[in-house]
Amino acid sequence: MCGIVGYIGNKDAKEILLTGLERLEYRGYDSAGIYVMDKEGQGHLFKEKGRIAALRDKVDVSVDSTAGIGHTRWATHGVPSVINAHPHQSSSSRFTLVHNGVIENYHEVKDAFLEDSQLKSDTDTEVIVHLVAWYVEEEELTTLDAFRKAIVGLKGSYALALIDNEEPDVIYAAKNKSPLLLGTGEGFNVICSDAMAMIKETDQFIELMDGEVAVLTRNSITLENLAGEEISRDPYTAELDATDLEKGMYPFYMLKEIDEQPAVIRRIIQKYQDENEKLHLNSEVLDVITECDRIYIVAAGTSNHAGWIGKQLIEKIAHIPTEVHVASEFGYNMPILSDNPLFVFISQSGETADSRQVLVKVKEMGYKSLTITNVAGSTLSREADHTLLLHAGPEIAVASTKAYTAQIAVLAILSEVVGKAKGFTHESDMIQDLGIAANAIQSIVDNKEHIEQLASEYLSISRNAFYIGRSMDYYVSQEAALKLKEISYVQTEGFAAGELKHGTIALIEEGTPVIAIVTVESVAGHTRGNLQETQARGAHTMVMAMEGLDRPGDQIVIPRVNPLLSALVSVIPTQLLAYYCSLHRGNDVDKPRNLAKSVTVE
Ligand code: AGP
Ligand code: GLU
Repeated sequence: MCGIVGYIGNKDAKEILLTGLERLEYRGYDSAGIYVMDKEGQGHLFKEKGRIAALRDKVDVSVDSTAGIGHTRWATHGVPSVINAHPHQSSSSRFTLVHNGVIENYHEVKDAFLEDSQLKSDTDTEVIVHLVAWYVEEEELTTLDAFRKAIVGLKGSYALALIDNEEPDVIYAAKNKSPLLLGTGEGFNVICSDAMAMIKETDQFIELMDGEVAVLTRNSITLENLAGEEISRDPYTAELDATDLEKGMYPFYMLKEIDEQPAVIRRIIQKYQDENEKLHLNSEVLDVITECDRIYIVAAGTSNHAGWIGKQLIEKIAHIPTEVHVASEFGYNMPILSDNPLFVFISQSGETADSRQVLVKVKEMGYKSLTITNVAGSTLSREADHTLLLHAGPEIAVASTKAYTAQIAVLAILSEVVGKAKGFTHESDMIQDLGIAANAIQSIVDNKEHIEQLASEYLSISRNAFYIGRSMDYYVSQEAALKLKEISYVQTEGFAAGELKHGTIALIEEGTPVIAIVTVESVAGHTRGNLQETQARGAHTMVMAMEGLDRPGDQIVIPRVNPLLSALVSVIPTQLLAYYCSLHRGNDVDKPRNLAKSVTVE
């Protein structure tokens, strides 16, 4: 959600900041701004509502700057507008600040310190920069001390970057809960919400932790805690390929990422094989899973939906009881836990605040944790005891596609390795089955035209739609519905087919699209029966069935795979239906309205 960049060096700061913000566009935002210092020590502020392209048009190209900070805003307090866009400044404009996150006590801060200050915006952020100025002016503190003291008084989440016009060769940064990295290079240093923003400049990054303040100059980065004690930390190398961030020939990242799924599954198989080409997990991860008596999967959105497939896999293959929870509910409403639980956090970004607040809580309670994520070095990865990576490559489109299938593939491998370690054997070969699933996905993405046509036939004008299924197909229905609604804005429900007649069938009208997913043999007939019930009430029905369970007239037939892995394949046409529906409606497929890629506020 939103992002921060900063640069201090010798190159054109405004261009580096704008490019960095463009790299962060995928996270979702509604306005943006940069503040740069020119060589005479004069500051220049540019802000705009809407896209970075609009901000670019506004930036004065003649400004010769080598230091500055930038921000994309996802409004939490105050409408998206130029005034509410960051950076914000103190009354005298000496201090300029950007902020990601939410300041919970901004009213209290304002009442206690800033009664006489003229705040211009409706944001929770603006009090911070006024508070820093207040400490400098009223208590005659240095900027560093004032920044630190201001932070100590804040409640909530923040990633911050601050510039003091009187110290044009310094950028201050700090964080609590919201992500922020420091990047380092020869004669320059940068800050950014994630490494993607600055990978063109450097691949060397230092993690900034909660409760730390960083002071960046062109040639140094100093870290200290809130008591002012210095901390030393080595940089790590970010393994990101800048070419992975390009769309190439694709009109949208989402389509590229849908197409990448067969390759991602094959890469995962390879990454989780040992030298004897057997599936394996790091021994510490294996121990922690085999020793637990119950797994609690905690995740949001699509990752939560992958968790439900994971539950089936873990229970059926590894025989460990598994619960799946919505992260934003779990922290406030914890169930009675087993004696030796393991918490598994599934998160593409590794930054989801709802999941993180659960992780913080269960760590305090002394429980073990494992994060399954696509982003090495992300907050959830750093803070959990163990991590399994998805190896899916950067996922840029807001609508998650390849991360979902990668999560299922990793959960399948986890189940297989743990099941074997616990002495449970079965006939099929997981490596082979995942390979067959990858081929099946390939055959679907190679025949997109058919799905594009179905999207126009079924979804071009409808205001609502239903996906229905039972068992595994019900979980995929929920993911299919989320995908369609988030990018096409068609109100869609993913429903347990058998539950329809208990109320929801009242919504079916002449022409309502109802799509049944049929991959589970034992319930296939029942699901078809439920679809018939909707057809009898006027629904425009579609069937997506797995080979062997298909019947003449079914609109989509997906290749046969191990039924435990059917979600990997059945989800693909639903991703494509969502993509084409969104495309035909003229929506911004990659950046749907109101949404952010990484949701870093609770
Ligand atoms: C997926 O299409 C959504 N954009 C969203 O539900 C997402 O899966 C959710 O916010 C969780 O994100 P995470 O996997 O990065 O934790
Ligand atoms: N809460 C701040 C605002 O609404 C920051 C939002 C963000 O993280 O972009 O301006």
